[in-house]
Amino acid sequence: MSIHTLSLSLLAATTAVVAQTIIPLTQRIFPYANIPYQVDTDPTGRGPQSGYNICNSTTEGPNSQCQTALINNIADFCVWGPATFNSTIGDTEAASVAWCSKPGHGSRVMTSGTLTGVQFLKAPAYVQVTGLINQVNINIAADDGGGELDPHGADERGNPLGALVYTNAFPSNNGNNNTYQQVIQWHNFMGSDVFCFKACDPAVATSAQYCNNLFDRIGCSYVAPASYAPNEYTVCDSDNQDPPGVYTNSAGVVTTYTQPPESLGPISTLPYVAKIPATSNCVTFQSAQLYASESSASSSTSSVKSTSAKSTTSVTGKSGSGSGSPTSTSTSKSSSAARPIRSSPFYGAGTGMFIAVSVSVMAGLGAVVVIL
Ligand SMILES: *[C@@H]1O[C@H](CO)[C@@H](O)[C@H](O)[C@H]1NC(C)=O
Ligand SMILES: *[C@@H]1O[C@H](CO)[C@@H](O)[C@H](O)[C@H]1NC(C)=O
Ligand SMILES: *[C@@H]1O[C@H](CO)[C@@H](O)[C@H](O)[C@H]1NC(C)=O
Repeated sequence: MSIHTLSLSLLAATTAVVAQTIIPLTQRIFPYANIPYQVDTDPTGRGPQSGYNICNSTTEGPNSQCQTALINNIADFCVWGPATFNSTIGDTEAASVAWCSKPGHGSRVMTSGTLTGVQFLKAPAYVQVTGLINQVNINIAADDGGGELDPHGADERGNPLGALVYTNAFPSNNGNNNTYQQVIQWHNFMGSDVFCFKACDPAVATSAQYCNNLFDRIGCSYVAPASYAPNEYTVCDSDNQDPPGVYTNSAGVVTTYTQPPESLGPISTLPYVAKIPATSNCVTFQSAQLYASESSASSSTSSVKSTSAKSTTSVTGKSGSGSGSPTSTSTSKSSSAARPIRSSPFYGAGTGMFIAVSVSVMAGLGAVVVIL
């Protein structure tokens, strides 16, 4: 055996060993009390993870590299965002960190005025938080159309790498705020001052379909249809949405949309609009009740209402690389509810062109206004 052959053999053996050590992130299960310092320590490929999973009072603050996120209730949740000011999601998704709505999780904490409209939905198969966000406050470049964070990626190591998500909001938790269950399947879209974060309940056998990661280019209005209303803060019970990509066409046939590969260029049309699931028992809050530092949510004498299923509509546009804003005028803040979400570069070469989806929610018989 020549030295050359030997080294090739060693290389092959090393590669084989390394490949065996990569466990998909969705198979890394840890009780909340037994979280490792780092979930993903493998230095090969995209690793190791940039931050850590044990987050506490010593890590909390503007330099936190916490990569464990909570999604508990409208007052207490985190999203993923860049660690460095003025970054794009696409450039930093593997190393993004937890930005939480309140202190106590060892993370970075959103400053007052970061969240400008939030809805927390409790559906049979998942909990979901959606809304409007001043994304520059969490280090996302002002014009970034953003992208998707989820526990997958081609190498199944997740974005961020090694990220963990926990909640106390699943029904099986029986309202116990001190017990956190791990969320195995989740997705979080960030960009264009819009966010959506869905945590699928592993106790529901069919829940993972709602947290799929097949539609990273069509944005929150499609993957997490919800209200996205400015200056509204509501908690509701909700029906399950149609799984992202699934819709009922005009002939009444349940159909599944396939996102075209990015090599075919920008998505210029979508054959459907995503239906907003019906909600009930909505409780409305004031921002200050929720996000004033350390104060917790109290439902007070809030209004309760129900809504029937609503529809969204969309048009598409395009925008240059790194420029997430639609090129023409949006009529209202709510029409930014699903501004363009740029494809994660992890799923395809960035072409610099991406879909711009703008949406207005039909309120009663109100007109749908979409201008890009
Ligand atoms: C706090 O978190 C840091 C970073 O993960 C860790 O090194 C440290 O051991 C933690 N402290 C405690 C008391 O758990
Ligand atoms: C953000 O980064 C871009 C590109 O590097 C730069 O043009 C812009 O001035 C930066 N914005 C701020 C607020 O620093
Ligand atoms: C759990 O937290 C929620 C939201 O803050 C609160 O409404 C509820 O009363 C808490 N439950 C318990 C048992 O403390």
